[in-house]
Amino acid sequence: MSISTEEELKGMQEISEAVAHTLKLMREHAAPGMSTKELDDFGGEILNKLGAKSAPRLTYDFPGWTCISVNNVVAHGIPVADKILREGDLINIDVSAELNGFWSDNGGSFVLGEDINNYLPLVDASKTILQKAISQIKGGVKIADIGKLIETEARKRGYTVIKNLAGHGVGRSLHEEPHDILNYYDRYVTGRFRKNSVVAVETFISTASTIAEQQSDGWTLLGNKGGFVAQHEHTIIVTDGMPTILTAANGIWN
Ligand code: CO
Ligand code: CO
Repeated sequence: MSISTEEELKGMQEISEAVAHTLKLMREHAAPGMSTKELDDFGGEILNKLGAKSAPRLTYDFPGWTCISVNNVVAHGIPVADKILREGDLINIDVSAELNGFWSDNGGSFVLGEDINNYLPLVDASKTILQKAISQIKGGVKIADIGKLIETEARKRGYTVIKNLAGHGVGRSLHEEPHDILNYYDRYVTGRFRKNSVVAVETFISTASTIAEQQSDGWTLLGNKGGFVAQHEHTIIVTDGMPTILTAANGIWN
């Protein structure tokens, strides 16, 4: 969406703070021995208390309040009672929701407890790359150039990017135009970022894979070449200068 009134700005700030707060508390609540279902229910209660409705559930009938993807799962992991979190797991939580007709989206990968599997370099690369990408976005910038930046920064660190998952417009629904804020350079992407528009920018940095493949449950995405993926996502407003990061309170950069 494009923000043109004070009311729209306030609506986007409210839902963005709600999803950011939920993501932050879920991340703090995650502990070894807990199931992903338990963690998801905790997040679902927070959203509910804030009056927000789970976006994946509303939009796609997703069987959970949030997406929780553990270790080799790239994205869209279904929270279940028999998936137990363990020390050193690579966990991605993605929280998106709706409140008063406004929608916002954010997510982040982190290592649970001590980094015994050495996932932190991947997680840190994803964080740094998202920071760099967002710092380059302003009105008039080519969307394809941000894809190029993400791909180049990933390659520099020895990583690949997932090509069939992307950032997107957000605001009046979960996924809006532009749908092609890719993690790589595609010369057929000709759009530019527009001032006052709201977009969700997200990295998909991988140790091996380039394509996320849907599994038979209809949701879970695994990498075509295995390995691990880190994702970080903020919902932002494009300006003439540094974007306004609406989901800053999620603390994914800390
Ligand atoms: Co998301
Ligand atoms: Co998104």
